[in-house]
Amino acid sequence: MNLTPIELLKRQAAEQAADLVRSGMRLGLGTGSTAAHFVQCLGERAREGLTVICVPTSERTRLQAEGCGLRLSTLDETPQLDLTVDGADEFDDQLRLIKGGGGALLREKIVAAASQRMVVITDSSKQVSRLGKFKLPVEADRFGLVATRRHIEDAARVSGCFGPVTLRKDLENKDFLTDGGHAIFDCDFGAIPDPEALAAALNAIPGVVEHGLFIGLASAVIVADPEGIRILGDLDG
Ligand code: A5P
Repeated sequence: MNLTPIELLKRQAAEQAADLVRSGMRLGLGTGSTAAHFVQCLGERAREGLTVICVPTSERTRLQAEGCGLRLSTLDETPQLDLTVDGADEFDDQLRLIKGGGGALLREKIVAAASQRMVVITDSSKQVSRLGKFKLPVEADRFGLVATRRHIEDAARVSGCFGPVTLRKDLENKDFLTDGGHAIFDCDFGAIPDPEALAAALNAIPGVVEHGLFIGLASAVIVADPEGIRILGDLDG
C-alpha cells in the first residue's frame, strides 16, 4: 500500500489506537479519513480473529465497516460502548476538539458520549493553541434557518466570536444535508476565546441540533508527527 506522508501519519495514529482494542469490546467508529484508517486496521485484525461489536457514526463509516467484515450494532442494541476512536479537525492541549468537517458531528458526539473512553487519532497539523482556525460546524434543523443563523451570530458575539456564518453547500451547490437530514453552518471565527461559553450559548438556541465543539469528551489524543507518536491525556482513562 503506497501512502502519502500525511496518510502514513494518519495510519500510524490509527494503528496505535487499534492496539487498544481487545476481543469482546464494544466500539464506536468515527468518521473521516483518519477514522477510515482505524476501520481498515480493525478489519485486518478481524480477519485474524479479533471479535468486536462496532457502532458507526455515519453511513459512510457503516458501509466501510460492513465491507471490512466488522460486526455492526446500533446504540439502541448496544447503548454502552467501551471505546470510541475518531478523528478531529482541530484539538488543543486541553483535549478540546472541533469536529464536523465531514458533517457527522451529531452522531459522533452521541456515540462519544455513550463511550467509556474516546480516543482521538490525528496528525500534528491539527494541534492549535486556540480553537477556531477551522470553521466551527453547527448542525441546525432546516426549519427557520435564517432565524437560527441570526441566533448563532448573536450567541457568538456575546461569547467574543466574530466572523461569517455560512450555510454549507454540497458539490452540486445544494444545501448540504447530514445523515440525520439537518443543515450545517460553518462559522469562521478565527479564534474562540472561551469554547465552554460558546458551547453553552449555542446549546441554548432551539434550532441548533448540535455543534462541533467537543469538550470533556476525549480522554486522549494520539498525535502522529514525523518525529513519532505523542499521546496527550490518558489512553486508559
Ligand atoms: C467528521 O464529521 C469529522 O468530525 C471528522 O472526524 C474530522 O473532520 C476529521 O476528519 P479527517 O480525519 O478526514 O481529517
